[in-house]
Amino acid sequence: MRVIRFASSIQQRIRKAKSAGKTVGFVPTMGALHDGHRSLLRRCRRENDLVVLSVFVNPKQFGPRENFAKYPRRERDDKKLAKKEKVDIMFIPSAKEMYPQGYLTYVEVEQMTRVLCGKSRPGHFRGVTTVVGKLLNIVMPDVLYLGQKDAQQAAVVTRMVQDLNFSVTVKICPTVREADGLAMSSRNQYLSVSQRKEAAVLYRSLKEARHSVISGNHSVAATIGKICSRIRRESSGRIDYVECVDADIFTPLRKIQGKTIIALAVWFGKTRLIDNIIVQA
Ligand code: PAJ
Repeated sequence: MRVIRFASSIQQRIRKAKSAGKTVGFVPTMGALHDGHRSLLRRCRRENDLVVLSVFVNPKQFGPRENFAKYPRRERDDKKLAKKEKVDIMFIPSAKEMYPQGYLTYVEVEQMTRVLCGKSRPGHFRGVTTVVGKLLNIVMPDVLYLGQKDAQQAAVVTRMVQDLNFSVTVKICPTVREADGLAMSSRNQYLSVSQRKEAAVLYRSLKEARHSVISGNHSVAATIGKICSRIRRESSGRIDYVECVDADIFTPLRKIQGKTIIALAVWFGKTRLIDNIIVQA
């Protein structure tokens, strides 16, 4: 495995690999790698000749009151995991490499970035699409792997790839969960023991909602109401949002119909957790 810290050197290597006819798969991350990231890497390894992993805690997607400085950084452990998963190239740029002095360019997907997480975290998706756009130009992959765990991010990036004609196929991989259903996340380590136990209510409530939709209840208000009351009853979590949206364009629905995503964000103390479930109604 090669660790590369500069965009120009990775571009050189990728050009070489591509002219030798190799396919390139890419998994962008912010590090503190866990089994969710691992599942993306494994699929990427199965489907491509060259596997590129990036680890970059992107300052531009953190709001002024969000804890960029405290985001976990575990370069040594990440390298070990990457080696084990047979990553070929690990790209670990510095903030200066990605955003040198004088940097002024941003990518913004409109409309679908103003709801759900975009509403609670203004500017967040602008930071995500800017960095993913840059990474795609640096790594030039054939396939980009993203997780369903961040459903809105996956939909927004897919939109950007389409709208800006990036020559890459986006593949979205299922959410990997702990034994009690909690979606794996680098942020789970911030939870206290009791918050960690309580957080399992998120997936329980989503599963219950899906069950109720499948058995014929297509009311958005009733579905959201049920989820909220279960979370309030069974945990100390503070609800940021619970919403039912169209799975592709992320517009809020009046009635649950077609491919729907039920998504939520809930605060446990100072930690904000997100999760979602897809329902075909
Ligand atoms: P990060 O949170 O590190 O996640 C990297 C990728 O792993 C994302 O595509 C995310 O959806 C996926 N992922 C995280 N937890 C997962 C889980 N439990 N199951 C399946 N996939 C999971 O998302 C980001 O970083 C950043 O916003 C990034 C896209 C790298 C841009 O900075």
